[in-house]
This record gives sequence, structure tokens and C-alpha cells, in this order.
Amino acid sequence: MTTALQKTATNNTVALTIAATPFAIRAERGSDIAAREALLDVCFGASRHARTCQRLRDGRLPAEGLAFSVVHQGRLVGTIRLWHVDAGGQAALMLGPLAVDPSCRELGIGAELMNHAIAAAKALGHGAVILLGDEPYYSRFGFSPEKMENLSLPGPFERHRLLGLELRAGALDGVAGLIVATGRAAKRARTASPAARAA
Ligand SMILES: CC(C)(COP(=O)(O)OP(=O)(O)OC[C@H]1O[C@@H](n2cnc3c(N)ncnc32)[C@H](O)[C@@H]1OP(=O)(O)O)[C@@H](O)C(=O)NCCC(=O)NCCS
Repeated sequence: MTTALQKTATNNTVALTIAATPFAIRAERGSDIAAREALLDVCFGASRHARTCQRLRDGRLPAEGLAFSVVHQGRLVGTIRLWHVDAGGQAALMLGPLAVDPSCRELGIGAELMNHAIAAAKALGHGAVILLGDEPYYSRFGFSPEKMENLSLPGPFERHRLLGLELRAGALDGVAGLIVATGRAAKRARTASPAARAA
């Protein structure tokens, strides 16, 4: 297991397991981008950009106040983001990706991130969260395939992995149709004009 050394008040050096050193959940920052993308490559592989859920994130910004990073000893080791979608006429949030660095798994970081993000979404007044993921993991946070049977995604997906959580009772009643992105557009990176390139 990874360890860290730390001086005590009496100046003794003690070895701490990675689990004993603090992890901080904070709002995602612009400066997290490179580390977040590297973490997602490690967790999902380079093919992650071809996943159906990515179509709901292309060119969009995450929902305001709903992107979080986990930092451990100055290193980004976890990420979660939620996105505005329209789920068959009903406003909802799409959660993903959730990822924790392989060196920091099974310490409860994923659960902390999930609980933090769900609580923040509820506090902001959102009615429901949808995701595509493993029910055996996400059911502990209240996600289930109930009420999801008439929704679809813009691409291939495994229906049993489409899960929902109501933050407001009845928010997913009767939802049917295609889930589409509704979040704010991300600013496109500027390409230099031919004149500027020639300069
Ligand atoms: C899924 C993930 C975020 C969990 O992070 P974590 O910090 O290890 O999670 P926690 O410590 O809170 O929970 C660990 C528990 O979840 C279980 N678990 C992890 N992934 C699971 C899965 N896909 N299905 C079922 N259970 C799972 C572990 O077995 C462990 O179980 P236990 O509590 O009974 O011991 C992490 O494994 C990860 O980044 N995986 C790769 C990316 C991914 O699959 N993301 C989710 C899809 S968007």
C-alpha cells in the first residue's frame, strides 16, 4: 500500500497509510483540466470519447456548481461532473464520469464524491439525476432502473445500466423519449486568423 511520512508534534517520523492522509473534495478549477483528462484516460481508456454519454457532454459545460475534484497531497485523484439534460420533456442532470485514481480506490472516495454531488444537486433545487453505470455500485446511492424504461440515449447503450434517482418525489414520473443535452455551450478554443498565423 502507498505510504506517506509525516512529522508528529514531538518531531518523530511516522508512516501513514494513504488512507490516513487527508483527501479534499472541492469545486473543479480550470487548472484541473490536464490532470482530470489524464485521470479519465487511465480509468476509461482512450476510447472513452466514443462512448454514448460523451455525446451529451460534447461542446457543453457541466451544470453550474456541480463539478468536483478530489485532491490528495496536491494531486488530483478523483472527479465527478453533472450535466444538464432534457429527459423526455423533464429537466434532469446526467452524472458522469465518476472516476477515482486506481491508487486511491476502496477508501470511500467514490462514495464521498457521489454523496457530495447528490447533496449539492439537491441543494441547488434539481429534481432528478440520471446515469449510465453499474447498478450494483450505484444502487447504494438510491439509483435504480425504475422509470427509465421509456428513455433512450443518442447512441447504443445497455438498457439495464440506465439508472435514475429522484431528488424530488415524482420528478421522473412518466418520462419518455430521447435524453438530450441542454447545458451551456463551452467556449470553443480560438484558432488564430491566417493573418495572425503569418505574423
Ligand atoms: C467506481 C469507482 C469510482 C469507485 O471508487 P472508489 O473510491 O473505489 O469507491 P468506494 O471506495 O466508495 O467504494 C468501493 C466499493 O464499491 C465497489 N465497487 C466499485 N466498482 C464497482 C462496480 N463497478 N460494481 C459494483 N461495485 C463496485 C467496491 O467493490 C467496493 O465495495 P465494498 O464497499 O463492498 O468494499 C472507481 O472504482 C473507478 O474510478 N472505476 C473506474 C471508472 C468507473 O468505472 N467509473 C464509474 C462509471 S462512470
